[in-house]
Formats: sequence, C-alpha cells, structure tokens
Amino acid sequence: MRLVLVGPPGAGKGTQAEIIAERLGVPKISTGDIFRANVSGGTPLGLKAKEYMDAGNLVPDEVTNDMVADRLAEDDAKGGFLLDGYPRNTEQAKVLDRVLEAAGATLDLALELVASDDEVVRRLSGRRVSKSTGKVYHLEFDPPADPDSEDLYQRSDDQPETIKNRLKVYAEQTAPLVGYYEGQGKLVRIDAIGEVAEVTERALNAIGAAE
Ligand code: AP5
Ligand code: MG
Repeated sequence: MRLVLVGPPGAGKGTQAEIIAERLGVPKISTGDIFRANVSGGTPLGLKAKEYMDAGNLVPDEVTNDMVADRLAEDDAKGGFLLDGYPRNTEQAKVLDRVLEAAGATLDLALELVASDDEVVRRLSGRRVSKSTGKVYHLEFDPPADPDSEDLYQRSDDQPETIKNRLKVYAEQTAPLVGYYEGQGKLVRIDAIGEVAEVTERALNAIGAAE
C-alpha cells in the first residue's frame, strides 16, 4: 500500500506511522526524521534545513522533493510505503504524483489525523525523546521511567513560539492538501483524539487494513 499521513504538528503522525507501517509491512518514511538525522550529522542537507526547522517553517520544496524522490527510489519502497510529513503543500503533492507516475505507480490513500489546536499544543509541550533509542514519550500520556533522565531531550521546535508558527504554517500551507486528496477521491479522515491504540484501530479500519 502507498499511503501518506496528513495532520497538524503533534497529531500523532509519527506515533501512528510507526505502528501502521509495521502492520502493513512497508517502510515508514518521515521527512522530519530524515531532516533531523541530517541536522545532527552536520551534513550539507542538514545545514540547509536547520534554520527553517528551528523557525517552524517548511524547508524549501526543491530540497525536500529531491530528498523524498531519492528515498522512494530505494528498493524497500518499491512495493509500498507510508509517508509521514510529506507532502506538506499542494506543490509537493503534485511532485509526488509525478514521481510515482514515472515509476508506474499511484498513491492509494491519504489518511488525515484530525486534532484540535489545544490538544496538539498539549501533546507537543509534553513530548520528550530518548537520545539513545529515539523513542518518543509524553510526560503525561506515555511517561518515561525517569522523567529527569539525561537521556531525554525536548525537540528544539517544541517551544511555544515555534509551535504557534508550525500551526500557522499547517493551516496556511498544509491544510489545503486535504482538498487536493478529496478531489482525487483518496482522502480518509479519522479523529486522532483518544488512546494511541484506539486511534490505530480507527486508522486501520479507515484504510481497510484491520484484521
Ligand atoms: P515533523 O517532524 O514532520 O514535525 P510535525 O509535522 O510538526 O509533526 P510532529 O513530528 O511534531 O508531530 P507528530 O504528528 O509526528 O506527533 P507525534 O507522534 O510525535 O517536521 C519537522 C520540521 O521539518 C517541519 O517544521 C519542517 O521544518 C521540516 N519538514 C518536515 N517535512 C517537511 C516537508 N515535507 N516539507 C518541508 N519541510 C518539512 O506525537 C506528539 C506527542 O504526542 C508525543 O509526545 C506522543 O507521545 C504524544 N501522543 C501521540 N499520540 C497520542 C495520543 N493518541 N494520545 C496522547 N498523546 C499522544
Ligand atoms: Mg513526527
């Protein structure tokens, strides 16, 4: 299955993508994770992306589209994939359609995770990530064994001012994607409020992959 996840920052895209990709047996491709790995590795791509990410703005399309096209050309993505955080504007969605078409493939579905601003702010403010394992926790909803552990860090874009800008960027640039996929008859929408497992069940039902 070829699937994209759409939803505001903090809606739970990364959390759900991990579980759903495993259930579907496809690679999870998260543009935010790829950018962050490049930033911490100090690569030229990371240097280009960092200032945009720190401000909560989108990295320019020419950088992002090439990075995703390269990743989709890898063997493990040929039979299907779950994209988390891409596309993020209508231009990226059109590029994705063209890249797939050139490979003789098409996107199956776009899954939208719906969550209110209040809820996503709560989720982002309490998010902590383990340096050693990469696991994502939440201080209240999925607390780590030791909340004061030196192994935990807060993402640099999870500060209140940056969160505000990310929500604005989502509303202005990413939300129109929903209409784009609706027009293609590919949009499925689920409520992203509730326990992680409940949201997963809704997602699997919506994409027709429930057992
Ligand atoms: P990206 O990393 O994609 O960030 P985002 O879209 O802002 O989304 P997040 O990763 O913050 O949230 P999420 O929806 O994955 O939620 P999560 O599962 O972690 O992008 C970062 C930046 O990279 C962008 O700002 C941009 O600069 C750049 N970028 C990336 N892609 C790009 C593109 N295509 N074009 C241009 N630039 C791009 O969950 C959040 C928290 O909530 C966690 O603590 C989790 O434990 C908790 N949680 C999850 N589910 C639940 C639940 N059901 N109940 C309670 N808590 C929950
Ligand atoms: Mg994420």
